[in-house]
Amino acid sequence: MAMPSSVDIIDVGPRDGLQNEKQVVVSAADKIDLIHRLVDAGIRHLEATSFVSPKWVPQMADAPEVMAGIQRQAGVVYSVLTPNMKGLEAALAAGADEVCVFGAATEAFSQKNINCSIAESIERFAPVVAAAHAAGVATRGAISCTVGCPYEGEVAPSAVRHVAQLMKDIGVQRIAVADTIGVGTPRQVQAAMDAALQVYDVAYISGHFHDTYGQALANTLASLALGVRVFETSIAGLGGCPYAKGATGNVATEDVVYMLHGMGIETGIDLDQLVDAAAAISQVLGRPPQGRVSVALLNKRANAAA
Ligand code: HMG
Ligand code: MG
Repeated sequence: MAMPSSVDIIDVGPRDGLQNEKQVVVSAADKIDLIHRLVDAGIRHLEATSFVSPKWVPQMADAPEVMAGIQRQAGVVYSVLTPNMKGLEAALAAGADEVCVFGAATEAFSQKNINCSIAESIERFAPVVAAAHAAGVATRGAISCTVGCPYEGEVAPSAVRHVAQLMKDIGVQRIAVADTIGVGTPRQVQAAMDAALQVYDVAYISGHFHDTYGQALANTLASLALGVRVFETSIAGLGGCPYAKGATGNVATEDVVYMLHGMGIETGIDLDQLVDAAAAISQVLGRPPQGRVSVALLNKRANAAA
């Protein structure tokens, strides 16, 4: 397998990770601390928050406060989710470097998540993308449910290609191929990636894999084999989408980084500092990190100290 020599990680933990937290209302200060820790660990691209309806996702209601409280570092892309012009205006006011519009490969998920059809979502995204570019802000488009949908079941690659083309047509610069409910296995994910690759160059595609069925690392490897070199992962394996019941977090950033470093693939990330960040946010949430590498390294540290 020809593998890339380096990989870019987009940590989506502060957004995808925390948006689904029901037990604890995470304070803006704790969200900001997490973002600072991720950047200190070497993360150069992250999803800080989302400018969505607070009625739909209460945990992200403090988006302006989070963005205002971050001490920005040069060379770091602070990205946010924007489903419509209202979100985009708030994101621009908050100084986001990149905005992410989010659509789906299935009609049912589009309705449940953003309350409109796929075609309507593209109509909404078009002015968002144009206004972002006019303001010098980069754009990414997430495509949910590219292999499986909680409402429609298995998803055909042609549906992924269709939405990728719609996003390309409105000028979205790069796309994420997402397994929202973490059901995909490597060949299915490769088929979804291949569909996206018919529309976007590999440099402009990221893999976004939830780990519900424990397939996300395998799916990451399968995507690497196709030349994909950007992955969206979540510190401590946090998260899930509130409109995808039962779906757990994204693959843990620390697990992906451990795998990549072990394969000689550079990320620019310090694994120990990443584990510190995972431990800190897990303490806020009152539960151990989901990432296997965090658990292993925290145990190792505890044993060494004993
Ligand atoms: P709607 O109810 O159809 O919107 O929701 P509306 O335009 O009719 O507005 C209704 C109310 O929402 C109004 O307030 C608006 O002002 C307000 P009211 O008059 O009732 O007081 N509103 C907003 N408030 C703040 N920011 C905004 C905004 N827009 C409207 N941007 C809408 C449509 C898209 C807003 C709603 O469905 C929504 O917010 N959905 C977001 C759902 C979400 O965040 N899901 C999780 C992120 S996606 C994800 O996790 C998947 C991903 O990780 C990839 C993968 O894994 O698949 C990316
Ligand atoms: Mg997600």
